[in-house]
Amino acid sequence: MSEQDRTFMTTFVTVLGILVVLAIALIFLARYVGHLAEPGEVPASDPLLQKRKAELLAPVGEVVVAEAPAGQAAPAARPAAAGDAAGGAPDGRVVYQATCFACHGTGAAGAPKVGDKAAWEPRVAQGLDALVANAVKGKGAMPPKGGNMALGEAEIRAAVLHMLAETGLKAGDGTAPAPAQKPAAAAPASAPAAPATAEGADLAAGGRIYQSACFACHGTGAAGAPKVGDKAAWKDRIAQGMDTLVANAVKGKGAMPPKGGRMDLDEQAIRNAVAYMVSRSR
Ligand code: HEC
Ligand code: HEC
Repeated sequence: MSEQDRTFMTTFVTVLGILVVLAIALIFLARYVGHLAEPGEVPASDPLLQKRKAELLAPVGEVVVAEAPAGQAAPAARPAAAGDAAGGAPDGRVVYQATCFACHGTGAAGAPKVGDKAAWEPRVAQGLDALVANAVKGKGAMPPKGGNMALGEAEIRAAVLHMLAETGLKAGDGTAPAPAQKPAAAAPASAPAAPATAEGADLAAGGRIYQSACFACHGTGAAGAPKVGDKAAWKDRIAQGMDTLVANAVKGKGAMPPKGGRMDLDEQAIRNAVAYMVSRSR
């Protein structure tokens, strides 16, 4: 190969690599930004919400960079970027935020809180494999996989590793895996088609929020939550009227944390989710 050919090949392969990374980044962005951006965008004036949004979005980059080398033929031509992304557990933070935070970020249902070393130390003593196994099959008030059956064991493991890292604990002897990435296969069962809108709420949007923020408890009955579809459990609650239901969901009630633990959701998003849940429960 002439020097010119080599330069061309390097450029070509680099550009190809960047495009692949971009495509994967867009898939992840679409999955995780969808419910964030609707229906009221996070106000730029609120630094706390902005920070949390940034946290939610942050891992997208890590995931992408970490997985790109796996399937692609271009590693040799990849720029130095490969090195700086090598460390992190792939998408543990994303899985945690979407599924585990509701309980483990708030202590809801008696879950050991992330950051609470004392609560985690005796559990960690079991070893990483036992922790992951318990998270997969459920334990006490924790439903299997935190209620999100779309998650694979690799994602649960990544989430557990993330939780332990955030708590400042080592993951025992378990070797940190590089969970197989399968962006397409991991796509959650699409939110059910929603009937017509009700009382100023967007049921389709509500269905998506429900799947990501409320299903953990309301799909499984975890923490004593009234299950969606259980008419008897919802009858008296629905009788209070939509505004009371939304207000209670926003400020929390009994074992339910405010907004189900998802402080990034605004009231309209909660209203949409409540409307969706009510529409399936009467
Ligand atoms: C509905 C609330 C809830 C959700 C959602 C939830 N957890 Fe839990 N989790 C709990 C509770 C409660 C416990 C304590 C169970 C016990 O020891 O009785 C627990 C315990 C654990 C433990 C320790 C298990 C052990 O052996 O002591 C791990 C690990 C864990 N959860 C991981 C996760 C992961 C990962 C997710 C998200 C994919 C998740 N949890 C989502 C409520 C929840
Ligand atoms: C950590 C578990 C948990 C999560 C996550 C959760 N809930 Fe709840 N929810 C509960 C429990 C438990 C109750 C019953 C509270 C009571 O009556 O003491 C409840 C009750 C409710 C009620 C009835 C309130 C009333 O006035 O009777 C609504 C509405 C509701 N949840 C909406 C939501 C929405 C919307 C989401 C998602 C954004 C959500 N919940 C997420 C546990 C949860």
